[in-house]
Amino acid sequence: EKGGWSSFMAKEISEQPEAVLKTLLGRVENKKVVLPDLGVLAEHLEAIDRIVIIACGTASYAGMLGKYALEKWARIPVEVQLSHEFRYEDPVLTPNTLVISISQSGETMDTLMAVKYAIEAGARTLSICNTQGATIARESDAVIYTHAGPEVAVASTKAFVAQIAALYLFGLHLASVRDTLPAAEIAAALDELQAIPAKLEKVLLTAPRIRELAGWMSDTRAVLFLGRHVGYPVALEGALKLKELAYIHAEGFAAGELKHGPIALIEPGQPVFVVVPSPRDPNSLHAKVVSNIQEIRARGARILAVAEQGDAAVLPFADEVIPIPLAGALFEPLLAVVPLQIFAMELATAKGLDVDQPRNLAKSVTVE
Ligand code: BG6
Repeated sequence: EKGGWSSFMAKEISEQPEAVLKTLLGRVENKKVVLPDLGVLAEHLEAIDRIVIIACGTASYAGMLGKYALEKWARIPVEVQLSHEFRYEDPVLTPNTLVISISQSGETMDTLMAVKYAIEAGARTLSICNTQGATIARESDAVIYTHAGPEVAVASTKAFVAQIAALYLFGLHLASVRDTLPAAEIAAALDELQAIPAKLEKVLLTAPRIRELAGWMSDTRAVLFLGRHVGYPVALEGALKLKELAYIHAEGFAAGELKHGPIALIEPGQPVFVVVPSPRDPNSLHAKVVSNIQEIRARGARILAVAEQGDAAVLPFADEVIPIPLAGALFEPLLAVVPLQIFAMELATAKGLDVDQPRNLAKSVTVE
């Protein structure tokens, strides 16, 4: 079933272009989003005044990316909450609140209980799910299926990129319904989304180099990940992957937070992955992150940068630059996450660990 791959994870990482392609298939027509999946929810979209995204683990990081996109495109306040915290906060829910759950399996008990809570409180519910007919999908008012195909490895990879694609489709659809984005901008964003599969193929070509790097780092005790804006959830996901697979202490930080504490952790030789925003970023986040790199480099950090190809500003300060193709800011995470997935898998492999079945973890956690 692994079809020549050394693990399901290796296979599923390689299937990411297809996972995005299939999730978009039939849902973009004439530069517009077509989502018949929304069913009864469709008539309530105009009235929605707030969105809460609930999920666990990797799916929650897809949710964070969904927040950036939905707020920017549809101008609706979005918050992201871990499913298991959500109910205990006494959340404010009304019939105009849309609760979006994200779950690969559609069976995660924490997320299911949160969805049931939202339904009882009278909120609208939408699930983003990778498993046909799963419980969470059946309970929700509507479901947008991600078509990543079955994900066997415990650590989520292809489901994550498919979840982002589905959230972005929904965000662009909402923007169109609510008239918050000109048709030309929706069309441009859809073009970006449809260009992702081919760009993912290019990112996958970095795998041999990442395997080498990981091979040299098998005795590493801690790795830090920095990112800013949409790079922040990518940093969190990179750290989660490394914990899950390689049992290495790893932490993701928002780069701007560095000076408020985490920089104290930097000592000579400390590996730090930095997800670098595009130099074309209109908010000058690129310059800010490059200056973060200089700060930690001066304290001896070993910098592994994931940066746009041709980003000359990063080169002098990084020990290694992993290039990703050019993409619009919101779309960079779909590419930047892949080297981090591969790094975690290769480091675990270098340590002789089972990457498909890490210790203490289950693919679908059906207890609270
Ligand atoms: C965890 C898995 O237990 O559940 C993670 O180890 C996963 O990889 C998380 O992201 C959420 O699972 P699901 O099926 O709800 O997306």
